[in-house]
Amino acid sequence: MVSAKDILSDSLRSSVLIIKHKDKLSPDYVPENLPHREEKIKELGFVFRDLLAGDAKDSERVVIVGRTGTGKTATVRLFGKNFEDIAEREYGVKVKYVHVNCYRHRTLYLISQEIANALKLPIPSRGLSAQEVFKMIHEYLDRRNIHLIVALDEFGHFLNTANTEEIYFLVRLYDEISAIIKRISYIFIVNESHSIYKLDRSIRDHIARRLIEFPPYKSMELYDILKYRVDEAFNDNAVDDEVLQFISNTYGYDKGGNARIAIETLSLAGEIAEKEGSPVVLLDHAKKANSTINPEIQEIVDSLSYLDLHQLILLKALIRVLNKSKADEVTMGTLEEEYISLAREFNEEPRRHTQVYEYLRKLKVIGIINTRQSGKGMRGRTTLVSLSLPLDKRLDDYIMQQIVVRLKSKA
Ligand SMILES: Nc1ncnc2c1ncn2[C@@H]1O[C@H](COP(=O)(O)OP(=O)(O)O)[C@@H](O)[C@H]1O
Ligand SMILES: [Mg+2]
Repeated sequence: MVSAKDILSDSLRSSVLIIKHKDKLSPDYVPENLPHREEKIKELGFVFRDLLAGDAKDSERVVIVGRTGTGKTATVRLFGKNFEDIAEREYGVKVKYVHVNCYRHRTLYLISQEIANALKLPIPSRGLSAQEVFKMIHEYLDRRNIHLIVALDEFGHFLNTANTEEIYFLVRLYDEISAIIKRISYIFIVNESHSIYKLDRSIRDHIARRLIEFPPYKSMELYDILKYRVDEAFNDNAVDDEVLQFISNTYGYDKGGNARIAIETLSLAGEIAEKEGSPVVLLDHAKKANSTINPEIQEIVDSLSYLDLHQLILLKALIRVLNKSKADEVTMGTLEEEYISLAREFNEEPRRHTQVYEYLRKLKVIGIINTRQSGKGMRGRTTLVSLSLPLDKRLDDYIMQQIVVRLKSKA
């Protein structure tokens, strides 16, 4: 009999590792480049360029607004790190960048501690108030002739929990402490703009003068982001191009444009491929990953019950051709033929082409299918349709069941 230990040892030895640097797929990793955020980094540079003059006296403020996964944190961190370096090397000016997560540090006191820690400024353990700590920080910066850029990430959490006085103190720091040189500048990062508009005007006008918006990523942009991450984290040729296309189409602009979920899906697909002993990450792995990661999956299945008969028939037709052809995508033409014949099987008059197109759009919005334009190689350009979930028997049965319910209620 083979021992469990031998089995384990064999499986460890023979397992293919296709992810080379797992840490580069973690959500905290900040890559050296951020495709499609170069303009935002330039804009940030523009806001803070006066600090490089050497005799800067004013503090700067800017608000960054965008949804989750639009690269706010990564972009600001990368900016901060590079700006520090450039200031020192090219301008001989001391700029220190500190990143504070206000979800973790959501009181003025904790924020002040966090900044002091980052500056390695020892704070007496006897109870100083946050305001006093800020003054200490300022004195320290004065002594060393340093300008500080504080990024207050997830700033909405602070706004929601702190009292007005604390918010006022933090945001209007220089109304509260007197300084000849205003050494502390801010980058406020907020998730959606409304948390700013809820603010008191006197505070809002003070911070929202400069606003940089981070729009959701388009599919094409996600594709580039994923491609770059694949080069960094995976072995050469370990990820099929279809995987990138699939993931970027699944999470593009109209579905949130969230790079974090896209990268998570990629990472999980890699793990699934490794577990299955595949040397390459394939479309099916991505679909499996997607079905476990997609937080909306249950919603998608639930939303099937709101579809009407012909939308369901179209979906069923898609599954049928995909099963028959063993392909991952079908052309619009093939799908429509299948739909027409399936509708007739159910004694239903098939809907017209434009209507079918409309159904397709609806299914895409729900997130159950993907469409894309065929590239070169096919005669003319045609729409290719694919499922965004793995072809799963349960799903198939459920769709059929829904069709039967609709047909019965008509009869
Ligand atoms: N333009 C980009 N290029 C490469 N990676 C990106 C880009 N934008 C975001 N990411 C990655 O996506 C994930 C989410 O980005 P993050 O900055 O945390 O978004 P946000 O702070 O807006 O929620 C991170 O792992 C980040 O490294
Ligand atoms: Mg963030």
